[in-house]
Amino acid sequence: MSDDQLESGKDVIAGLSAEQKSLPPKYFYDQRGSELFEQICELPEYYPTRTETAILKEYSGAIAQKTGPCEIVELGSGSSTKSRILLNAYQDAGYPLRYLPVDVSDTMLTESAEKLLQEYPAMSIWAIASTYEPALNALPPKQLPARMIAFIGSTIGNLQPAECEAFLENISETLEVGDYFLLGLDLQKETSILESAYNDAQGVTAAFNLNMLRHLNRQFEGNFDLANFAHVASYNSQKKQIEMYLESLTAQTVRLEVLDLTVEFEMGDRILSEISRKFSLEEIANSLSSHRLKVVEIFTDTEQRFGLMLCQKAS
Ligand code: TRP
Repeated sequence: MSDDQLESGKDVIAGLSAEQKSLPPKYFYDQRGSELFEQICELPEYYPTRTETAILKEYSGAIAQKTGPCEIVELGSGSSTKSRILLNAYQDAGYPLRYLPVDVSDTMLTESAEKLLQEYPAMSIWAIASTYEPALNALPPKQLPARMIAFIGSTIGNLQPAECEAFLENISETLEVGDYFLLGLDLQKETSILESAYNDAQGVTAAFNLNMLRHLNRQFEGNFDLANFAHVASYNSQKKQIEMYLESLTAQTVRLEVLDLTVEFEMGDRILSEISRKFSLEEIANSLSSHRLKVVEIFTDTEQRFGLMLCQKAS
């Protein structure tokens, strides 16, 4: 077992031993998880991807004009579908292309980097298979006049408020003055729309959530029985977040051999697997400016479902 795996096991032990059981979201993304996530993005109920894609299509040219030639670091690049829209805009502007995708799924990263190199023969790619923080600390020197860190898909909503502040500070410290940060955000809206987006009729989100247990079984020789857990997702209107759980359908004991961990569940016990915060543009703009990230321009759809903020590092 690699150090990395041992290291990552500690977060599983801590999460499953706590009063409110939880699991780190990075365990969603093994190969099957990444594929299921791609399917989530296509679901009729899951409006964020579609909406953000439309915003990008409309405004990527404007973004390229604002930033000028710049290399694009993408946190959580997945299959890089949305990044292609940005890359095309930079290509159409006649700028040199350099792309630095970061993703925890190394298979996904390799596959999409290979495809991208075929599609954009002149582009240079520097891929980093890792979680965000180590990646931010390991970025190679800038090769173009500016750099833009893109964090789209409202993944920032998956961070707890305190983690979110620490993350923004880390982004700010990583950027040089004048560099850019492109942030995608799902906005506050009616509960029914939000809850449907995480409880799709085809059950893809449920399969995605449950797949986390399969991933743990494989990685840590676990014996989670997926049939004994159910996907639950609901909107907490006070905290303005979707909360996603794996709920134990029975009293049961689960064992993770590699971690020497035994976990007891009562019927109805829940493991928190993800939160997805929903934002107000005003609040996040304040938070960004407190981290020396100046909002240059905000792009939204006509229904204000989703926001894309272009920010610039100030001195
Ligand atoms: N960033 C996405 C979001 O919060 C991630 C996401 C969508 C997700 N659906 C999910 C994460 C289901 C876990 C489970 O909307």
